[in-house]
Amino acid sequence: MALSKEHPLALLLNRVIVLYIALALVFGGGVCAWIPTMQRPSKGRSVSAVFVFGDSTVDTGNNDYINTPSKGNVPPYGKDFVNHTPTGRFSNGRLISDLIAAHYGVKELLPPYLDPALSTKDLITGVCFASAGSGYDPLTARIRNVISVEKQLQYFKAYRRRLEMAVGKDRTRNIINEALFVISCGTNDFINNYYGLPFRRQSFTPQMYRRFILNHVKNFTQTLLNQGARRIAVAGLPPIGCLPVVIDLNSGNPFQNRSCIEKFSSVAWNYNKMLQKELGKMEKSTKSVGVVINYIDIYNPLTQIIKAPTSFGFEDANSGCCGTGIVKVSFSCNMNSYVCPDASKYVFWDAVHPTERAYSIVFDAELPNFDAIVKGM
Ligand SMILES: *[C@@H]1O[C@H](CO)[C@@H](O)[C@H](O)[C@H]1NC(C)=O
Ligand SMILES: *[C@@H]1O[C@H](CO)[C@@H](O)[C@H](O)[C@H]1NC(C)=O
Repeated sequence: MALSKEHPLALLLNRVIVLYIALALVFGGGVCAWIPTMQRPSKGRSVSAVFVFGDSTVDTGNNDYINTPSKGNVPPYGKDFVNHTPTGRFSNGRLISDLIAAHYGVKELLPPYLDPALSTKDLITGVCFASAGSGYDPLTARIRNVISVEKQLQYFKAYRRRLEMAVGKDRTRNIINEALFVISCGTNDFINNYYGLPFRRQSFTPQMYRRFILNHVKNFTQTLLNQGARRIAVAGLPPIGCLPVVIDLNSGNPFQNRSCIEKFSSVAWNYNKMLQKELGKMEKSTKSVGVVINYIDIYNPLTQIIKAPTSFGFEDANSGCCGTGIVKVSFSCNMNSYVCPDASKYVFWDAVHPTERAYSIVFDAELPNFDAIVKGM
């Protein structure tokens, strides 16, 4: 039934509308101020889940469940972790994977996908697929018999099917759309593979190898987009010439001269430049569908710390707290290694990996970039 203007119900409706507008004018300011507090103002849209791919910089323990020599599951790894337990994380404490999940209120620690004890509740808020020793180049993962990034994507697809069984297709799609995806990988491609072994150098110039790796990054990111990912953070390389192991092997006099090996850092720097360009292109071509792909800069924040460690409260920026290099007998950090008494004074935990404190400073520096992804900017 159509209501004529004179109908009593229409008049009543009109009055209700007028009253509503009047109330909105009077209390409008209050209403507007009240809404944002419900949505965690500084964080914008919320993050449904966190998914992480890559290498030891972000692996929260997947290698514990595979047959590889690359494991961080014995003391003193985890020295400053919850209950001082080694978990497979290559540091004294938490990794950026954990810091991200905690910061966006998803969960305190990001569990490894291969942990057989994961519940549906754990799965819903995201997992870590990364594997220490891995790289974009399939050969890199084979060196240490770890999980290649391609395999990590297969695991993600298996994860997705598992989640669909548990909570249905629609909810799974929503979780993936609203999730934050993080990829941190590439150091091993250059350190362990290209400069560590002869094979790739026989067929690729450094410039060609960077291209080759970038093509894999593009392919990887595209696969995530095809799977419904909308918010993607891709980390660049650290200043690899400053890793204690690289100094040990390449400084003419590693006892006395522990300055960064610029030749290697510039490889990373050039790669990062190219990566930023590629990510920018990818984002442009997908912007219309609400995709944000941001570059996460590890290089500059870490370089700043290494150049002026004392201003960040560090005492050592070029050797690991645990078993690094010639000075401390062995490259590897294990139960027999010398361990410094206070890891928070060290930028590096072992010959390759930063301490939790260094990671958290880098994370804080990059927070605006993560926030921009989460807010869709
Ligand atoms: C790109 O990704 C697809 C699907 O994951 C894979 O089949 C293909 O081999 C990849 N290509 C390269 C060059 O890595
Ligand atoms: C220290 O090592 C760096 C890099 O290997 C080199 O460029 C520099 O000349 C060395 N400094 C001294 C004083 O030997």
